[in-house]
Amino acid sequence: MTRLLRGRLLSFNRRPDSLSDTASYNYEDDGGLLLENGRIVAMGAYTDIRAKAPRDCVTVDHRPHLILPGLIDTHLHFPQMQVIGSYAANLLEWLNTYTFVEEQRFADPAHGARIAVSLFDELIRNGTTTAVAYCSVHKASADAYFAEAERRHMLMLGGKVMMDRNAPDALTDTPQSGYDDTKAVIDTWHGRGRNHVVISPRFAITSTPEQMEMAGALAREHPDLHIQTHLSENLAEIEFACSLYPAAKDYTDIYAHYGLLRDNMLLGHAIHLSERERDALSETGAVAVHCPTSNLFLGSGLFPLKELERREKPVRIAVATDIGGGTSYSMLKTMDEAYKIQQLRGERLTPLESFFLMTLGNADALGLAHRIGTLSPGSDADLVVLDARATPAMALKMEAVTSLSEELFLLQTLGDDRTIAETYIAGKPAKSALR
Ligand code: GUN
Ligand code: ZN
Repeated sequence: MTRLLRGRLLSFNRRPDSLSDTASYNYEDDGGLLLENGRIVAMGAYTDIRAKAPRDCVTVDHRPHLILPGLIDTHLHFPQMQVIGSYAANLLEWLNTYTFVEEQRFADPAHGARIAVSLFDELIRNGTTTAVAYCSVHKASADAYFAEAERRHMLMLGGKVMMDRNAPDALTDTPQSGYDDTKAVIDTWHGRGRNHVVISPRFAITSTPEQMEMAGALAREHPDLHIQTHLSENLAEIEFACSLYPAAKDYTDIYAHYGLLRDNMLLGHAIHLSERERDALSETGAVAVHCPTSNLFLGSGLFPLKELERREKPVRIAVATDIGGGTSYSMLKTMDEAYKIQQLRGERLTPLESFFLMTLGNADALGLAHRIGTLSPGSDADLVVLDARATPAMALKMEAVTSLSEELFLLQTLGDDRTIAETYIAGKPAKSALR
């Protein structure tokens, strides 16, 4: 089926340098977007696209809303939906008291299947069309996650977590079973539907050197697969991790030693890095994933986003919710907190950068910008429709808004799931279909 969407189109083509960098994006005030077979086939002024469209295509008028590429979340934990808002002093207490208890429930495939439905509903409700998830240690949790992703036709990344120590017995695998189960998940799910399997050793604390060797073997055998783990989120975590790997120069060097640092590796948090570690990320192209709501909630620290970007050897950056350390599924709320973190560091994060990061920036960080993250013809038709007057408070503030960047800043500051007027997955409306 062919659909023609009408609305205000916004799509970035590179990172915006400043608020006045109008060349970093394409904006069509009365735009047309033609969708066919799950792809964007044409984008431009509505009258031009209308003239190209088949006579019988369905037209959906989203004016005066903005139509953007679907939002991308590069780090969340599928088994932590019921961990959100758990009261703890810090990361390690939070993990041991709540998270490692809750994740044990995913041994039951029926539980995983139920939570997967809720996760995908929540992502769609918040305009997130692609996410990168940690499942639990249980292979069944990855099966539930990818089966639901396939059912929804969503481009999703994720992996069975590998963890073989410093956690309850019921939540550990072994170097061999972690390897075998990950292989089985790759064989079953990678490339099926729009699924991408991610090699997922949880972090250095919960993997023995033997398991790290196995993660390294998987990485070597599958150079095209993403790898994800956690790095330097919390000072006590750093000290513990380094004590477990005394030969490593620092926390980053643990992962480097096992051949895991590369340009399709995602390092969650990466807050407290030395200059040497920043260089190592930059040289390998490994991505530091900023998780603002989680970093504030767990008191982990203020991510030096601007410092990492502007150094001579810049570090690649992505942004993410980190559900359930994170406190919101909304990428808009995530960037609201990201903005405030830079404020506390005496830095500026423009709304153009925020919207770039949620779309093309994250797509680039995943090496998937040819598929998602823009409205370019040929891209997958994963879209979000944003209503800047979604609540009375937003509508009132909109009366005072005079520019696109002010509107984006309002969407980021006051927006949440109510702001998402529609989410399109592979060319089809998905949010209205939930109701
Ligand atoms: N480090 C290791 N596991 C986790 C997790 O589940 N959440 C967060 N925020 N950090 C981690
Ligand atoms: Zn995490």
